[in-house]
Amino acid sequence: MRHDLLRAAEKKDVERTPVWFMRQAGRYLPGYRKIRQTHSLTELIANPTLAAQVAIEPVNKLGVDAAIVFSDILILFGNAFTMTDGGPRVKQETIEPKDVRNLMLPDPSELKFVYDQIRILRSKLEVPVIGFTGGPFTLASYLIEGGQSRSFEKTKEFMFRNPTAWGLLLDKISEAAAGHLERQVASGAQVIQLFDSWIGALSPADFREFAFDQTDYLLSKISVPKIYFGTMNAGLLPEISRLRADVIGVDWRVEIKKAWEMVGARFGMQGNLDPSALIGGPALALKRARHILDAVSSKRGYIFNLGHGVLPSTQPELVKKIVDLVHSYPS
Ligand code: CP3
Repeated sequence: MRHDLLRAAEKKDVERTPVWFMRQAGRYLPGYRKIRQTHSLTELIANPTLAAQVAIEPVNKLGVDAAIVFSDILILFGNAFTMTDGGPRVKQETIEPKDVRNLMLPDPSELKFVYDQIRILRSKLEVPVIGFTGGPFTLASYLIEGGQSRSFEKTKEFMFRNPTAWGLLLDKISEAAAGHLERQVASGAQVIQLFDSWIGALSPADFREFAFDQTDYLLSKISVPKIYFGTMNAGLLPEISRLRADVIGVDWRVEIKKAWEMVGARFGMQGNLDPSALIGGPALALKRARHILDAVSSKRGYIFNLGHGVLPSTQPELVKKIVDLVHSYPS
């Protein structure tokens, strides 16, 4: 068993600094691209054998310290979403305040294929398996905007003008997300990550008022180590440090040492190489990775990652070089 990632998430000593990458199974890998020629993303996710194969590819090829379940945060909305070339889109009408009371999210039993995949991963892997779901704010923004958004205008209009319906919507989402995470853990996921990718759209006051409670509730339901990740979340770190998470994930817009000081030594820390540094070529990418490792790799609870997902044009060989660099660092 190679358990450095689990040990870091529990703030225990590790043999080598653990490393994994968000979107480590994706379009930059030739094996993934090949499977996608014959299967849509949704077909792939719904097929536990193929999805497990995709999740395992980066573990074997790159030597990362964990596999992440191959799925998507929008799976929680069942087939209300479709994946287009421009990203995910809601199939029917987007959610308005009057719809919240009758909104039905799929029962976890409808997501059995995810749990079957986890059982396959556990039977085949020496490294831990990371389960995941989206953060309540991030998930709500997809339902309200109908897809990805720049300014979150519709989401904020909904939130500010209909705080009661908003609260109910986040309650429903966090309940469904907690059920999905609990089933992932029961099926063998040893760590979970909450992808609250767009939480940085909120001011600290709005985070406290409109998202904190449901986010914290969701985290509190889970018994294994929990990583709470967001982008542009540096200004929220004082509030984030009150969440019942174990490790905080940050993007590259903050010095990782500073971020860690802000949340305090009680937490582990994950991040935070800019994914575009890898597009900048080996010399730049390795230099930036060393900067991060010099700052934090000797501390208990550190997990190396990018500050967001691997970009599709990334060279897998360079990702491997980063893994080797991280593993060569004293921990
Ligand atoms: O390797 C892994 O990280 C596991 C798989 C994974 C996917 N999505 C598969 C996927 C994970 C962890 C996610 C999480 C996810 N999905 C997030 C949170 C992380 C983040 O990126 O902020 C979000 C916001 C989504 C929603 C989503 N799914 C978007 C916005 C898109 C389109 C953008 C894009 O990158 O294409 C997706 C599609 C998606 N999900 C792909 C993959 C591998 C690419 C689709 C393809 O193969 O064509």
